[in-house]
Amino acid sequence: MKVLLTGAAGFIGRHIAEAATAAGHEVIGVDMLLQQAHGTTAKLPPGVVHGDIRDPALLDELLADVDVVCHQAATVGNGVDAQDLPGYAAHNDLGTATLLAAMARTGTKRLVLASSMVVYGEGRYTCPDDGDVPPAPRQDRDLQQGLFDPRCPHCGGRIEPHLIGEDAVFAPRTAYAASKIAQEHYAAAWCTLESGSAIALRYHNAYGPGMPADTPYSGVAAIFRSALERGEPPQVFEDGNQLRDFVHVVDLARANVAAIEAVGAHRPGLSAYNICSGHTYTIGDMARRLATVMGGPKPVVNGQYRAFDVRHIAASPRAALEGLGFEAGIGPDEGIAELATAPLRGR
Ligand code: UD1
Repeated sequence: MKVLLTGAAGFIGRHIAEAATAAGHEVIGVDMLLQQAHGTTAKLPPGVVHGDIRDPALLDELLADVDVVCHQAATVGNGVDAQDLPGYAAHNDLGTATLLAAMARTGTKRLVLASSMVVYGEGRYTCPDDGDVPPAPRQDRDLQQGLFDPRCPHCGGRIEPHLIGEDAVFAPRTAYAASKIAQEHYAAAWCTLESGSAIALRYHNAYGPGMPADTPYSGVAAIFRSALERGEPPQVFEDGNQLRDFVHVVDLARANVAAIEAVGAHRPGLSAYNICSGHTYTIGDMARRLATVMGGPKPVVNGQYRAFDVRHIAASPRAALEGLGFEAGIGPDEGIAELATAPLRGR
C-alpha cells in the first residue's frame, strides 16, 4: 500500500517508516522538523519531504494515489505553561483538520491516528463500597502530606487502580491531552462526512532507541536515562508507586503497521485501541531498574509532585489483540535494559 506518514522524522515516525517499508509498503514521509521536538540541528531522514501539514497545496500533492494516511505529526509532551496552548491547537488541532480536509479532496478514505493514553486523564478505580468510580481530583493538602493516591469521590475512602479500557470517559488534564481528544473527534467527524475509516492508537508510555533526550517535553524514561548518564540519581516524584505501562517504540511501530493493514477492511467510523505492553510498572521500579543496568547512583524518591500528573494509568491490551491482532513483543525488563545504551536523539 502507499502510505503518507506525517511526522516521519520523529521518534515514533522513524520507527514506523522502517517497519512499514520492511512490511512491503511504499512510504511517503513528511515532517516540518518542529524546533521544539528536533532542536535546530536535526536533519531529515533520506527521502522525507520537508513541509508543514497545514499547507493544503502540499497535502494535495503528497496525497496523490495514497491508500492510507498514518498521522504522527504533533506537538507532544505535557507542555511548560499556558503559553504552549496555541502551539498545541495550531499543530495538533488545525494540522489534523487541514489533513482531513485534504483527504476529503483527494478521496483518501483511510486514516491511522497517533492518539495517547492522556485522553483518559486518571485511570480506572474501584471503591470497595461504591464500585467503579472516577477518582476525586487530588487535593494539594493531601499531596503536601505525601498522600498521593486519589480517593473515592463519594465516600472519600481508599480506591484500587485497575486496567483502563477504551470505553473510559475522556478527562483531559493538559493542552496536549485536549488536542489529542480533538484529533479523535475531528477524525470521527471526517469518517461520518466522507464514509472514511479511522483507527486511533492510544499510545501508553513510549520509550526506546531514538527517543528525544532530556527536554521539558520529554517523558520520564529519557529524563532518568539522561540523569544517570550525567552520573546523577534519577529524581522520582511522589512516592515512586505511580503506575504506568511502558511500551517499546518497535512495538508501537508494529501496531501502526497492523493498523495500516487493518483500517481498510475495518469497520467504518473511528475505532480506538490502547497500545501498551500489558505490563504494569511503577515509576520507582523503572528508575531502579535503569540505575542498576547503567551502574549509576540509586534513584532519589523526592516526594515532589506536578499538578497535571495523573497518579496511575495502566491499560488493558485486550482490544488491540482482538481488533488488530497486535500484541507487544518487548517487555519492560528487556526494553529498559536496552534503553541503558540506546542512542537518544539530540546528542
Ligand atoms: C507521557 C508523555 C505524554 C504521552 C504519554 C503516553 C511526556 C512529558 N509525557 O505521559 O506526552 O502522551 O506518556 O505516551 O512526554 N516523573 C518523575 N520524575 C521526573 C519526571 C516524571 O518521577 O523527572 C514521574 C511523573 O511524576 C509521572 C511519571 O513519572 O508520575 C510519568 O511522567 P511523564 O513521562 O512525564 O508523563 P506521563 O503522564 O506518563
